Amino acid sequence: MLSTYTARSVAAPSAVITGWGSYVPPRVLSNRDLESRIDTTDAWIVERTGIRERHVVEDGEATSGMAAKAARVAIERAGIAADELDAVMVATTTADHLVPTAACLVQEQIGARHAAVFDIGAACAGFVYGLAVAKGLVASGAARRVLLVAAETISRFIDWTDRSTCVLFGDGAGAVVIEASEGRGGIRGTVLRGDGTKRHALWVEGGGSLMARIPDAKDGQMFRLRMDGQEVFKLAVPSMARACEEVLAAEGLRLSDVTLLIPHQANLRIIEAVGKRLGIDRAKVFVNIERYGNTSAASIPIALCEAVEQGRVRPGDRILMCAFGGGMTWGAALVEWSGAPVAVGRKGIAARARDLLARRARRAGGSTSPRAT
Ligand code: ACO
Repeated sequence: MLSTYTARSVAAPSAVITGWGSYVPPRVLSNRDLESRIDTTDAWIVERTGIRERHVVEDGEATSGMAAKAARVAIERAGIAADELDAVMVATTTADHLVPTAACLVQEQIGARHAAVFDIGAACAGFVYGLAVAKGLVASGAARRVLLVAAETISRFIDWTDRSTCVLFGDGAGAVVIEASEGRGGIRGTVLRGDGTKRHALWVEGGGSLMARIPDAKDGQMFRLRMDGQEVFKLAVPSMARACEEVLAAEGLRLSDVTLLIPHQANLRIIEAVGKRLGIDRAKVFVNIERYGNTSAASIPIALCEAVEQGRVRPGDRILMCAFGGGMTWGAALVEWSGAPVAVGRKGIAARARDLLARRARRAGGSTSPRAT
């Protein structure tokens, strides 16, 4: 539930990431698999993109299902119940349907009964846009607990005969729980940008209100992603680098204050070019594109989860994230990490359930019964 803004005399709360989770479909499509379908080679794909394999959905699987799986892990890590969420946002360009939003389906699947639900459409930059919205909701007092999921099923919108695009993308989802905190840290600053004049560099022409899909549509390409790869490359590198510089400047920080850069995983060469332009140490740049390809909005939260699992993110660390995508849209976010890793498992669930009941009991003035459904 989002309540209307009320003027506050106290400082705005911080928006802190307290839970994180990711999910990719089990089916792996390797470069070798693609060699047998189109005129390409593993060597070309690795050299030009850094990608070795990607995960793709099976029939019957779609964005909301992956999003809900990632969300459940994030919620469990945060130690909250889904019905405590005030808002569920899904950053995606590949929702299961035009109506309803992916967020509505995720809400149903995880049982976030009290949440406001909406999607964020900013293509590959959707997660960074979502962090900005979540920070705003928390800072204004409209929400205390927000679930932000980024999930994409790009494989359904690919022309699998077009070697210049089909080798790049993969499916997956990543989620974070963002909570209000009186402490410092959390989502410190965000920079969001866009340029609609460059929209033709990466687009899916059909399927919207100008050209809705009709059963006898002659040109199926209208409903497939088309891209001018070199144009995207040229736009992405300076835009992401500039957004990083802007967010650091706004926060009064230098690049040396950043512990880890998590860029959108679009192409290894784009990532390396952004790092070079910024002048950041290669060891501080997180890369996992070789195993997932470009999962669009989901790439940053999937990478964030891996970075935490690998011990590359510790409380107090400053994480810089940047993304660029169709629209064009781009941006950067600076997050001060404060989430303490919590083991996800049966024991953990029981312990957190007890905490939850105790918290509710305190709120209800002594009763230990769960809230009535
Ligand atoms: N296998 C083999 N050859 C290929 C393939 C392939 N999969 N794809 C293209 N080629 C060929 C081309 O046909 C061309 O052949 P030609 O010289 O005989 O004409 C040759 O390789 C070079 O093609 P280019 O398009 O010039 O290759 P480039 O080095 O630019 O790499 C790529 C293409 C990987 C798409 C690159 O431009 C790129 O990464 N751009 C960024 C696009 C991107 O990341 N988009 C993601 C969405 S937006 C985002 O997330 C930021």
